[in-house]
Amino acid sequence: MGKMLENPREAFRLLTEPRDALLLELEEQARQEDIPIAGPVVGGLLSLLSRAIRAKRVLELGTAMGYSGIFLARACSGEAACLTTVEADPDIAARARENFARAGVEDRVDVMEGQALEILSTLSGPYDLVFLDIDKQGYAPTLPAIHRLLRVGGLLVADNTAFAEAKTFNRDLLAHPGFTSIQLYAFLPDHSPEDDGIALAAKKA
Ligand SMILES: C[S@@+](CC[C@H](N)C(=O)[O-])C[C@H]1O[C@@H](n2cnc3c(N)ncnc32)[C@H](O)[C@@H]1O
Repeated sequence: MGKMLENPREAFRLLTEPRDALLLELEEQARQEDIPIAGPVVGGLLSLLSRAIRAKRVLELGTAMGYSGIFLARACSGEAACLTTVEADPDIAARARENFARAGVEDRVDVMEGQALEILSTLSGPYDLVFLDIDKQGYAPTLPAIHRLLRVGGLLVADNTAFAEAKTFNRDLLAHPGFTSIQLYAFLPDHSPEDDGIALAAKKA
């Protein structure tokens, strides 16, 4: 058997794709203000998955400053607003709108203010990809609506599944007959936190 890297955490920290000045600035703001963001690996994963499935309609629950939303908006390929993103806090939603404008993607993004569960009941699908990143105790109740809104073959990416509050969601997702899912527990540089779980699920029917 081959030899493992001596310090895989530092080696993999250097293997994240380069980001532009705006994304680096938002990463710095997140560090300074203790705002939890997905970081470059989950951002890159969202971008890669959106491009791989040629996502035309993407839904994000939990916008914060718009960091992950910028990855999603740059990767989706619908002509009009291809990203709908939901944020409960109006001040941070305003900040996200500014950041989407600075990223040049404001025409591609619809920021909806309110509680995810309430807004979900007003939306119509189908969506190609859903990124779930709200308060973790809020994950499980959103699962039926996310299943309703995704197209068959559409993807759900749920961040922070190693949090204790995500336990019910993790159990429900695994048991859901309409999803096939995997859980990754990984080192994610500049993610909040850096050791965490991510669930990936595809809608079966
Ligand atoms: C982890 S942060 C999102 C980070 C963002 N996705 C990123 O990676 O840049 C979670 C955000 O979801 C918002 N939030 C939490 N619970 C919510 C809910 N039930 N409905 C809507 N927004 C919620 C919080 O105000 C916070 O801004």
